[in-house]
Amino acid sequence: MMQEAGFNVVRLAEFAWIFMEPEEGRFEFGWLDEALGILAAHGISAILCTPTAAMPAWVPRKYPEVMALQKDGTRLTWGVRKNNCFTSGTYRLLSERITRAMAEHFADTPNVIGWQTDNEFGHPFCYCPTCRADFQDWLRRKYGSLEELNRAWGTHFWGHRVTRWDEIVIPDNPEGHNPSACLDWQRYFSWLNVRFQRDQVRLLRAVCPRHFVTHNFMGLFPELNYYDLAEDLDFVSWDNYPVWGKPEVPYAASAAADLMRGLKRRNFWIMEQTAGPGGWGVFGRNPRPGELRKVAYQQLAHGAEGNLWFRWRTCTAGREQYWHGLLGHDGRGLRRYQEAAQTAQEYHRLAPELEGTTVEPQVAIIYDYDSLWALRIQPGFAGNSYTAAMQRYYNALFRAGVNVDLVRPTEDLRRYRLVLAPELHVLPDQVARRLIAYVEAGGVLLADCRTGVKDDTGLCHARTLPGLLSEMLGITIEDYEAVPEGVEFRLDWRPAEEGQAGSLPHAANQFTATQYVDWVTPQGAEVLAGYDEWYLRPFAAVTRHRFCGGTAYYVGTVVREPEFYDALIALLLESAGVKPLVQPPPGVEVSIRSGHGKRLLFLVNHTESAQTVKVPAGGTDLLTGEQTGETLTLPVYGVAVIKL
Ligand code: GAL
Repeated sequence: MMQEAGFNVVRLAEFAWIFMEPEEGRFEFGWLDEALGILAAHGISAILCTPTAAMPAWVPRKYPEVMALQKDGTRLTWGVRKNNCFTSGTYRLLSERITRAMAEHFADTPNVIGWQTDNEFGHPFCYCPTCRADFQDWLRRKYGSLEELNRAWGTHFWGHRVTRWDEIVIPDNPEGHNPSACLDWQRYFSWLNVRFQRDQVRLLRAVCPRHFVTHNFMGLFPELNYYDLAEDLDFVSWDNYPVWGKPEVPYAASAAADLMRGLKRRNFWIMEQTAGPGGWGVFGRNPRPGELRKVAYQQLAHGAEGNLWFRWRTCTAGREQYWHGLLGHDGRGLRRYQEAAQTAQEYHRLAPELEGTTVEPQVAIIYDYDSLWALRIQPGFAGNSYTAAMQRYYNALFRAGVNVDLVRPTEDLRRYRLVLAPELHVLPDQVARRLIAYVEAGGVLLADCRTGVKDDTGLCHARTLPGLLSEMLGITIEDYEAVPEGVEFRLDWRPAEEGQAGSLPHAANQFTATQYVDWVTPQGAEVLAGYDEWYLRPFAAVTRHRFCGGTAYYVGTVVREPEFYDALIALLLESAGVKPLVQPPPGVEVSIRSGHGKRLLFLVNHTESAQTVKVPAGGTDLLTGEQTGETLTLPVYGVAVIKL
């Protein structure tokens, strides 16, 4: 059935440790050889997984200390998964042993093409004495001396100076412990996962040089620095489950795809794609007719190079009995199977055209884990979320039909015409200088609330906000306020002279400021919007400053209406000279893959009605083979790939 569907790769063995090492040091791979042989006979390749995300029962029986210790001092109970301590030398050794045994056994199996490390790194946090000692060692390496650590953490506050490394505790109370310590603990946890993966990757590379190594990431999952986790891999892959509540435009899946591509600035795979209703107890809705295919095409449009569904057949046993696959419990190839098969067959047809193409945006959003974490530890104002801030701008760019790269703060920004840096809360001086250099060289930059508050160690910069960016943005912020729920201010756009850039390309010019307000004093910047409230009238809400060759925008509040962000993005795009190729109707996504002299325009209709899109005439619709006219109509959940 897989072969008939057009599938050419499966992923195997991610939780099969007990079957490969039924008792310590005794390996059995015969069953997997047999499965691989069957697949090979049907022209199907395999990705194998190191099985360390679910340990056999004999592991904690023999070595109880490998189970992660919870905050309350009790160990996790064996029997779920992702429950090991990552500093445990025993666990690392056992992981190395099974990884080596697998690698040696399958290195020359012809249809094994690559590896997935573990499964969805990111859990659990462990609070055991080994983790504590390892954290102390990590800090010692990072800071070199206790004096430096005490300075970096500002431990004079509450008299929390430490005089020996072993006095340092795991800051397990993010609402009470020193925020700098909390930030370092999060960084340490991330590093710990990276180290665990690195041990496996080294081994796999040494034993299986012709195989790729990847890991299944989780999109916008916030616990790990995904740039670091991606570093050792050949490419990123990720698990995409966007079908849950009420059908709506899947902005987050789109942003996640752009981040996954941004981690290594190269195309990615989908290692698990929604195949049916998902849930461990209660299941979500069933993907509607056409939805699975359009979910897959959304990712293809953003640079996916491979697509595996999760799962093949719905399990009759275990915790995931209700996590539905392409086949139901009955194993029949019904609606979802057929839709996946249609997708696979179309992908085969598209493959030669896709070869050598990726998404090459002119716009980037900086996505920074330090800022994300620091804002989780201390959001500053109620409701503040780094990811939500990113999505306010991202969603507006999506609606404008513009591709975006999500990149790290130290990325080379010169290749972009427009860079958005929402809530770059942790702003080391060297990053601030890069942003300034970018604008000096002609770039268009946007910054907003709470930018530049902290330095790399989590101490507040002893500067007037926005610190080093002040001159470039042409503003100072001497005061600011959290806006409690139930309070809001009118924000008025102040249109510039008729016809000038700066006038809002939107009918409405009144919006609502919520959550937070910077009291922005222009120091050379133009005021594009201000507040109606009596005491806020002297201050700006949105500013623009021409600085050297470039332009820098600042938004000092959180605006309720998405239309505000649409209008702002239109202005920014105009400022940066970025012209969307297609202006999509609401709910239609536009993406372009290019390379090797080709340009492919993807259109994905996320709505449940037909949508007509104005497209460049004379292209080839690769799915129908027809020439495009002035417009193209996409059916419900319809997609098009147009070769321009
Ligand atoms: C993923 C995981 C899979 C499966 C799936 C459904 O997070 O990698 O193994 O558990 O979710 O729960």
